[in-house]
Amino acid sequence: MTTKRLLRALGGEAVWPPPVWLMRQAGRYLPEFRAMRAQADFITRCMTPDIATELTLQPIRRFGMDGAILFSDILILPWAMGQSLHFVDGTGPVLEPIRSRADLARLDPRRVVERTAPVMEALRRLRAALDAPAGVGVAPGGGTTLIGFAGAPFTVACYMVDGGGSREFAHTRLMAYSEPVLFERLMALLIHSTADMLCAQIEAGAEAVMLFDSWAGLLPPGEFARHVIAPARAIVQAVHASYPEIPVIGFPRLGGVSVGRYATLTGVQAVGLDTGVDLEVASTLLPTGITTQGNLDPLALLAGGRSLADAIEAIRTVVRGRPHVFNLGHGVLPQTPPEHVAALVEAVRHA
Ligand code: CP3
Repeated sequence: MTTKRLLRALGGEAVWPPPVWLMRQAGRYLPEFRAMRAQADFITRCMTPDIATELTLQPIRRFGMDGAILFSDILILPWAMGQSLHFVDGTGPVLEPIRSRADLARLDPRRVVERTAPVMEALRRLRAALDAPAGVGVAPGGGTTLIGFAGAPFTVACYMVDGGGSREFAHTRLMAYSEPVLFERLMALLIHSTADMLCAQIEAGAEAVMLFDSWAGLLPPGEFARHVIAPARAIVQAVHASYPEIPVIGFPRLGGVSVGRYATLTGVQAVGLDTGVDLEVASTLLPTGITTQGNLDPLALLAGGRSLADAIEAIRTVVRGRPHVFNLGHGVLPQTPPEHVAALVEAVRHA
Protein backbone atom coordinates (compact mmCIF):
# COMPACT_ATOMS: atom_id res chain seq x y z
CA MET A 1 0.00 0.00 0.00
CA THR A 2 1.36 3.41 -0.91
CA THR A 3 1.52 5.97 1.85
CA LYS A 4 -1.17 8.62 1.51
CA ARG A 5 0.14 11.86 0.00
CA LEU A 6 -1.06 14.01 2.91
CA LEU A 7 0.77 11.78 5.39
CA ARG A 8 3.92 11.93 3.27
CA ALA A 9 3.80 15.74 3.27
CA LEU A 10 3.19 15.83 7.02
CA GLY A 11 6.22 13.56 7.34
CA GLY A 12 8.38 16.30 5.82
CA GLU A 13 8.40 15.22 2.18
CA ALA A 14 8.09 17.88 -0.56
CA VAL A 15 5.18 16.09 -2.26
CA TRP A 16 4.28 17.59 -5.66
CA PRO A 17 1.65 18.68 -6.43
CA PRO A 18 0.90 19.42 -2.78
CA PRO A 19 -1.91 17.51 -1.05
CA VAL A 20 -5.02 19.59 -0.42
CA TRP A 21 -7.92 19.81 2.04
CA LEU A 22 -9.81 22.82 3.42
CA MET A 23 -10.72 23.95 6.90
CA ARG A 24 -14.54 23.86 7.23
CA GLN A 25 -14.78 21.81 4.05
CA ALA A 26 -17.93 20.26 5.53
CA GLY A 27 -20.25 23.20 5.83
CA ARG A 28 -23.14 25.37 4.81
CA TYR A 29 -21.66 26.18 1.37
CA LEU A 30 -22.71 22.64 0.31
CA PRO A 31 -26.41 22.13 -0.55
CA GLU A 32 -26.25 18.53 0.73
CA PHE A 33 -24.96 19.87 4.08
CA ARG A 34 -27.77 22.41 4.31
CA ALA A 35 -30.29 19.65 3.58
CA MET A 36 -29.08 17.60 6.57
CA ARG A 37 -28.88 20.67 8.76
CA ALA A 38 -32.66 20.84 8.89
CA GLN A 39 -32.83 17.34 10.42
CA ALA A 40 -31.01 17.91 13.70
CA ASP A 41 -29.40 20.64 15.78
CA PHE A 42 -25.63 21.07 15.68
CA ILE A 43 -24.73 19.04 18.78
CA THR A 44 -27.02 16.20 17.70
CA ARG A 45 -25.30 16.20 14.31
CA CYS A 46 -21.92 15.92 16.02
CA MET A 47 -23.16 13.17 18.37
CA THR A 48 -24.95 10.94 15.84
CA PRO A 49 -22.34 8.74 14.11
CA ASP A 50 -24.47 8.31 10.95
CA ILE A 51 -24.79 12.06 10.51
CA ALA A 52 -21.24 13.02 11.51
CA THR A 53 -19.88 10.37 9.13
CA GLU A 54 -22.07 11.52 6.27
CA LEU A 55 -21.22 15.21 6.77
CA THR A 56 -17.48 14.42 6.90
CA LEU A 57 -17.68 12.46 3.64
CA GLN A 58 -19.81 14.92 1.64
CA PRO A 59 -16.88 17.09 0.50
CA ILE A 60 -14.71 14.01 -0.11
CA ARG A 61 -17.30 12.52 -2.50
CA ARG A 62 -17.60 15.79 -4.37
CA PHE A 63 -13.99 16.93 -4.51
CA GLY A 64 -11.77 13.97 -3.54
CA MET A 65 -9.61 15.93 -1.10
CA ASP A 66 -6.45 14.40 0.36
CA GLY A 67 -7.72 14.97 3.90
CA ALA A 68 -11.10 14.26 5.53
CA ILE A 69 -11.53 16.22 8.77
CA LEU A 70 -13.98 14.76 11.26
CA PHE A 71 -17.26 16.67 11.45
CA SER A 72 -17.35 17.85 15.05
CA ASP A 73 -16.45 21.01 16.96
CA ILE A 74 -13.80 22.26 19.35
CA LEU A 75 -16.55 23.03 21.88
CA ILE A 76 -17.64 19.40 22.16
CA LEU A 77 -14.97 19.00 24.87
CA PRO A 78 -16.41 21.59 27.30
CA TRP A 79 -19.89 20.27 26.46
CA ALA A 80 -18.72 16.72 27.32
CA MET A 81 -17.40 18.01 30.67
CA GLY A 82 -20.86 19.29 31.45
CA GLN A 83 -20.69 22.97 30.48
CA SER A 84 -23.98 24.10 28.97
CA LEU A 85 -23.60 24.82 25.23
CA HIS A 86 -26.02 25.88 22.50
CA PHE A 87 -25.39 26.89 18.92
CA VAL A 88 -27.67 29.79 18.07
CA ASP A 89 -28.31 30.67 14.42
CA GLY A 90 -26.72 33.98 13.52
CA THR A 91 -24.94 34.20 16.89
CA GLY A 92 -22.77 31.10 17.11
CA PRO A 93 -21.96 29.18 20.28
CA VAL A 94 -23.44 30.29 23.62
CA LEU A 95 -22.04 28.78 26.84
CA GLU A 96 -22.72 29.28 30.55
CA PRO A 97 -19.51 31.19 31.36
CA ILE A 98 -16.88 29.86 33.76
CA ARG A 99 -15.85 32.76 36.01
CA SER A 100 -15.16 31.25 39.45
CA ARG A 101 -13.71 28.25 41.24
CA ALA A 102 -17.24 27.01 41.85
CA ASP A 103 -18.01 27.19 38.10
CA LEU A 104 -14.82 25.27 37.36
CA ALA A 105 -15.57 22.66 40.02
CA ARG A 106 -18.86 21.83 38.28
CA LEU A 107 -16.99 20.54 35.22
CA ASP A 108 -16.39 16.81 35.25
CA PRO A 109 -13.61 15.56 32.94
CA ARG A 110 -14.44 11.96 33.87
CA ARG A 111 -17.58 12.23 31.73
CA VAL A 112 -15.65 12.96 28.54
CA VAL A 113 -14.89 9.39 27.45
CA GLU A 114 -18.50 8.30 27.76
CA ARG A 115 -20.01 11.45 26.23
CA THR A 116 -17.64 11.50 23.25
CA ALA A 117 -18.10 7.79 22.47
CA PRO A 118 -20.28 8.63 19.40
CA VAL A 119 -17.44 10.77 18.01
CA MET A 120 -15.06 7.81 18.25
CA GLU A 121 -17.64 5.58 16.60
CA ALA A 122 -17.88 8.09 13.73
CA LEU A 123 -14.09 7.95 13.33
CA ARG A 124 -14.11 4.15 13.16
CA ARG A 125 -16.79 4.23 10.47
CA LEU A 126 -14.98 6.96 8.57
CA ARG A 127 -11.71 5.10 8.49
CA ALA A 128 -13.50 2.01 7.16
CA ALA A 129 -15.39 4.04 4.54
CA LEU A 130 -12.27 5.87 3.37
CA ASP A 131 -9.97 2.86 3.20
CA ALA A 132 -12.38 0.25 1.78
CA PRO A 133 -11.20 -1.07 -1.64
CA ALA A 134 -14.02 0.72 -3.46
CA GLY A 135 -14.30 3.34 -0.71
CA VAL A 136 -14.79 7.08 -0.61
CA GLY A 137 -11.14 7.95 -0.01
CA VAL A 138 -10.13 8.17 -3.63
CA ALA A 139 -7.56 10.96 -3.41
CA PRO A 140 -4.83 10.25 -5.96
CA GLY A 141 -1.70 8.44 -4.81
CA GLY A 142 -2.74 6.38 -1.79
CA GLY A 143 -6.12 7.71 -0.69
CA THR A 144 -7.63 10.15 1.77
CA THR A 145 -6.16 10.75 5.24
CA LEU A 146 -8.55 10.91 8.22
CA ILE A 147 -7.81 13.99 10.37
CA GLY A 148 -8.91 14.28 14.00
CA PHE A 149 -8.78 17.57 15.88
CA ALA A 150 -9.30 19.53 19.05
CA GLY A 151 -9.30 23.16 20.06
CA ALA A 152 -6.11 24.27 21.77
CA PRO A 153 -6.57 25.08 25.48
CA PHE A 154 -6.36 28.86 25.11
CA THR A 155 -8.97 29.07 22.34
CA VAL A 156 -11.32 26.66 24.12
CA ALA A 157 -10.83 28.66 27.34
CA CYS A 158 -11.79 31.81 25.41
CA TYR A 159 -15.24 30.37 24.65
CA MET A 160 -15.59 28.78 28.10
CA VAL A 161 -14.80 31.93 30.05
CA ASP A 162 -16.29 34.58 27.78
CA GLY A 163 -19.35 32.38 27.23
CA GLY A 164 -19.38 32.61 23.43
CA GLY A 165 -17.72 34.31 20.48
CA SER A 166 -16.12 37.73 20.93
CA ARG A 167 -13.63 39.97 19.17
CA GLU A 168 -11.42 40.49 22.17
CA PHE A 169 -12.21 37.71 24.65
CA ALA A 170 -11.53 40.28 27.36
CA HIS A 171 -12.96 38.18 30.23
CA THR A 172 -10.59 35.35 29.40
CA ARG A 173 -7.48 37.46 28.94
CA LEU A 174 -8.27 39.42 32.10
CA MET A 175 -8.74 36.21 34.09
CA ALA A 176 -5.28 35.04 32.94
CA TYR A 177 -3.78 38.21 34.49
CA SER A 178 -5.95 38.81 37.52
CA GLU A 179 -6.79 35.26 38.61
CA PRO A 180 -3.77 33.30 37.42
CA VAL A 181 -4.35 30.35 39.76
CA LEU A 182 -7.92 29.85 38.58
CA PHE A 183 -6.92 30.31 34.95
CA GLU A 184 -4.01 27.86 35.22
CA ARG A 185 -6.35 25.28 36.75
CA LEU A 186 -8.69 25.62 33.81
CA MET A 187 -5.75 25.38 31.38
CA ALA A 188 -4.36 22.29 33.14
CA LEU A 189 -7.76 20.62 32.94
CA LEU A 190 -7.94 21.42 29.22
CA ILE A 191 -4.39 20.26 28.51
CA HIS A 192 -5.04 16.84 30.03
CA SER A 193 -8.48 16.28 28.60
CA THR A 194 -7.45 17.51 25.14
CA ALA A 195 -4.47 15.13 25.05
CA ASP A 196 -6.70 12.25 26.18
CA MET A 197 -9.34 13.07 23.61
CA LEU A 198 -6.80 13.28 20.77
CA CYS A 199 -5.36 9.91 21.82
CA ALA A 200 -8.87 8.44 21.79
CA GLN A 201 -9.41 9.85 18.29
CA ILE A 202 -6.17 8.25 17.09
CA GLU A 203 -7.13 4.96 18.73
CA ALA A 204 -10.44 5.17 16.80
CA GLY A 205 -8.71 5.76 13.45
CA ALA A 206 -7.49 9.36 13.06
CA GLU A 207 -4.20 9.29 11.12
CA ALA A 208 -3.18 12.88 11.90
CA VAL A 209 -4.49 15.44 14.38
CA MET A 210 -4.81 19.21 14.30
CA LEU A 211 -4.83 21.61 17.23
CA PHE A 212 -6.83 24.78 16.46
CA ASP A 213 -5.67 27.86 18.38
CA SER A 214 -7.85 30.34 16.54
CA TRP A 215 -7.36 33.17 19.04
CA ALA A 216 -3.65 32.66 19.82
CA GLY A 217 -2.88 36.00 18.14
CA LEU A 218 -4.71 37.95 20.85
CA LEU A 219 -1.84 37.30 23.27
CA PRO A 220 1.36 39.34 23.71
CA PRO A 221 4.61 37.33 23.45
CA GLY A 222 4.99 36.37 27.13
CA GLU A 223 1.39 35.22 27.38
CA PHE A 224 1.71 33.49 24.01
CA ALA A 225 4.62 31.44 25.39
CA ARG A 226 2.65 30.57 28.55
CA HIS A 227 -0.81 29.90 27.16
CA VAL A 228 -0.18 28.85 23.55
CA ILE A 229 3.29 27.30 23.23
CA ALA A 230 3.53 25.50 26.60
CA PRO A 231 0.10 23.81 26.37
CA ALA A 232 0.70 22.76 22.75
CA ARG A 233 4.05 21.30 23.75
CA ALA A 234 2.50 19.35 26.62
CA ILE A 235 -0.25 18.00 24.34
CA VAL A 236 2.18 17.03 21.55
CA GLN A 237 4.37 15.22 24.11
CA ALA A 238 1.40 13.35 25.57
CA VAL A 239 0.12 12.33 22.13
CA HIS A 240 3.57 11.23 20.99
CA ALA A 241 4.19 9.29 24.20
CA SER A 242 1.43 6.92 23.05
CA TYR A 243 1.49 7.49 19.27
CA PRO A 244 4.97 8.67 18.22
CA GLU A 245 4.21 8.21 14.52
CA ILE A 246 1.08 10.39 14.37
CA PRO A 247 1.72 13.86 12.91
CA VAL A 248 0.36 16.87 14.81
CA ILE A 249 -0.58 20.06 12.94
CA GLY A 250 -0.56 23.17 15.13
CA PHE A 251 -2.53 26.26 14.10
CA PRO A 252 -1.60 29.31 16.21
CA ARG A 253 -3.82 31.64 14.21
CA LEU A 254 -2.80 35.30 13.95
CA GLY A 255 0.42 34.49 15.84
CA GLY A 256 2.55 36.47 13.35
CA VAL A 257 6.28 35.95 13.76
CA SER A 258 5.66 33.90 16.93
CA VAL A 259 4.92 30.98 14.61
CA GLY A 260 8.70 30.42 14.45
CA ARG A 261 9.00 29.88 18.21
CA TYR A 262 5.79 27.88 18.20
CA ALA A 263 7.12 25.47 15.57
CA THR A 264 10.53 25.20 17.24
CA LEU A 265 9.32 24.66 20.80
CA THR A 266 6.10 22.64 20.56
CA GLY A 267 7.33 19.60 18.61
CA VAL A 268 4.53 19.79 16.02
CA GLN A 269 5.21 18.27 12.60
CA ALA A 270 3.30 20.98 10.71
CA VAL A 271 2.07 24.51 11.26
CA GLY A 272 -1.11 25.96 9.85
CA LEU A 273 -0.56 29.51 8.63
CA ASP A 274 -3.28 32.14 8.46
CA THR A 275 -3.70 34.49 5.48
CA GLY A 276 -1.63 37.22 7.08
CA VAL A 277 1.61 35.20 7.02
CA ASP A 278 4.03 35.66 4.11
CA LEU A 279 4.96 32.08 3.18
CA GLU A 280 8.44 33.15 2.12
CA VAL A 281 9.09 34.87 5.46
CA ALA A 282 7.54 31.97 7.41
CA SER A 283 9.95 29.54 5.81
CA THR A 284 12.87 31.54 7.20
CA LEU A 285 11.36 31.43 10.71
CA LEU A 286 10.58 27.72 10.78
CA PRO A 287 13.00 24.92 11.65
CA THR A 288 13.83 22.72 8.65
CA GLY A 289 11.68 19.65 8.24
CA ILE A 290 8.52 21.38 9.50
CA THR A 291 5.64 21.20 7.04
CA THR A 292 3.59 24.31 6.33
CA GLN A 293 -0.17 24.31 5.74
CA GLY A 294 -2.31 27.11 4.38
CA ASN A 295 -2.87 29.89 3.60
CA LEU A 296 -5.13 30.94 0.74
CA ASP A 297 -7.53 33.76 1.58
CA PRO A 298 -11.08 32.31 1.98
CA LEU A 299 -12.31 35.45 0.18
CA ALA A 300 -10.23 34.58 -2.90
CA LEU A 301 -12.03 31.23 -2.90
CA LEU A 302 -15.38 32.99 -2.58
CA ALA A 303 -14.46 35.32 -5.48
CA GLY A 304 -13.27 32.54 -7.82
CA GLY A 305 -12.13 33.17 -11.41
CA ARG A 306 -8.84 34.83 -12.24
CA SER A 307 -8.15 36.12 -8.70
CA LEU A 308 -8.53 32.61 -7.30
CA ALA A 309 -6.32 31.07 -9.99
CA ASP A 310 -3.62 33.72 -9.43
CA ALA A 311 -3.71 33.34 -5.64
CA ILE A 312 -3.38 29.55 -5.92
CA GLU A 313 -0.50 29.82 -8.38
CA ALA A 314 1.30 32.32 -6.12
CA ILE A 315 1.24 29.84 -3.24
CA ARG A 316 2.24 26.92 -5.46
CA THR A 317 5.25 28.86 -6.71
CA VAL A 318 6.51 29.63 -3.20
CA VAL A 319 6.00 26.16 -1.73
CA ARG A 320 7.41 24.15 -4.63
CA GLY A 321 10.28 21.99 -3.36
CA ARG A 322 9.12 22.26 0.28
CA PRO A 323 6.80 20.10 2.37
CA HIS A 324 3.45 21.89 2.16
CA VAL A 325 -0.23 21.06 2.55
CA PHE A 326 -2.49 23.29 0.49
CA ASN A 327 -5.34 24.78 2.55
CA LEU A 328 -7.03 28.07 3.36
CA GLY A 329 -5.82 30.53 5.97
CA HIS A 330 -9.17 30.06 7.78
CA GLY A 331 -12.44 28.23 7.11
CA VAL A 332 -14.52 28.06 3.91
CA LEU A 333 -17.12 30.86 4.00
CA PRO A 334 -20.80 29.77 3.83
CA GLN A 335 -21.46 31.86 0.68
CA THR A 336 -18.72 30.09 -1.31
CA PRO A 337 -19.94 28.49 -4.57
CA PRO A 338 -19.05 24.76 -4.49
CA GLU A 339 -17.74 25.03 -8.09
CA HIS A 340 -14.97 27.30 -6.79
CA VAL A 341 -13.85 24.53 -4.45
CA ALA A 342 -13.80 22.08 -7.37
CA ALA A 343 -11.74 24.60 -9.37
CA LEU A 344 -9.34 25.01 -6.45
CA VAL A 345 -8.68 21.29 -6.08
CA GLU A 346 -8.07 20.99 -9.82
CA ALA A 347 -5.75 24.01 -9.93
CA VAL A 348 -3.72 22.85 -6.94
CA ARG A 349 -3.29 19.40 -8.49
CA HIS A 350 -2.14 20.26 -11.99
CA ALA A 351 1.46 19.33 -12.60
O1 CP3 B 1 -15.14 20.90 8.16
C1 CP3 B 1 -14.45 21.10 9.18
O2 CP3 B 1 -13.54 21.94 9.26
C2 CP3 B 1 -14.67 20.16 10.37
C3 CP3 B 1 -15.51 20.56 11.42
C4 CP3 B 1 -15.23 21.78 12.28
C5 CP3 B 1 -16.28 22.62 12.73
N1 CP3 B 1 -15.76 23.51 13.63
C6 CP3 B 1 -17.68 22.48 12.33
C7 CP3 B 1 -18.61 23.60 12.57
C8 CP3 B 1 -14.05 22.26 12.86
C9 CP3 B 1 -12.63 21.77 12.66
C10 CP3 B 1 -14.40 23.36 13.72
C11 CP3 B 1 -13.42 24.08 14.54
C12 CP3 B 1 -13.87 25.26 15.30
N2 CP3 B 1 -15.07 25.47 15.91
C13 CP3 B 1 -13.03 26.37 15.59
C14 CP3 B 1 -11.59 26.49 15.18
C15 CP3 B 1 -11.43 26.91 13.77
C16 CP3 B 1 -11.91 28.32 13.48
O3 CP3 B 1 -12.91 28.44 12.77
O4 CP3 B 1 -11.27 29.27 13.97
C17 CP3 B 1 -13.77 27.27 16.36
C18 CP3 B 1 -13.30 28.61 16.89
C19 CP3 B 1 -15.07 26.69 16.57
C20 CP3 B 1 -16.19 27.24 17.38
C21 CP3 B 1 -17.41 27.46 16.56
N3 CP3 B 1 -18.20 26.45 16.03
C22 CP3 B 1 -17.98 28.70 16.17
C23 CP3 B 1 -17.42 30.06 16.52
C24 CP3 B 1 -19.11 28.41 15.40
C25 CP3 B 1 -20.11 29.39 14.85
C26 CP3 B 1 -19.62 29.99 13.58
C27 CP3 B 1 -20.32 29.37 12.39
O5 CP3 B 1 -19.63 29.14 11.39
O6 CP3 B 1 -21.53 29.15 12.47
C28 CP3 B 1 -19.22 26.99 15.30
C29 CP3 B 1 -20.26 26.23 14.57
C30 CP3 B 1 -19.79 25.27 13.54
N4 CP3 B 1 -18.74 24.39 13.68
C31 CP3 B 1 -20.36 25.05 12.26
C32 CP3 B 1 -19.64 24.01 11.64
C33 CP3 B 1 -19.89 23.37 10.29
C34 CP3 B 1 -21.59 25.75 11.72
C35 CP3 B 1 -22.75 25.07 12.33
C36 CP3 B 1 -23.95 25.05 11.46
O7 CP3 B 1 -24.69 26.01 11.55
O8 CP3 B 1 -24.15 24.06 10.74
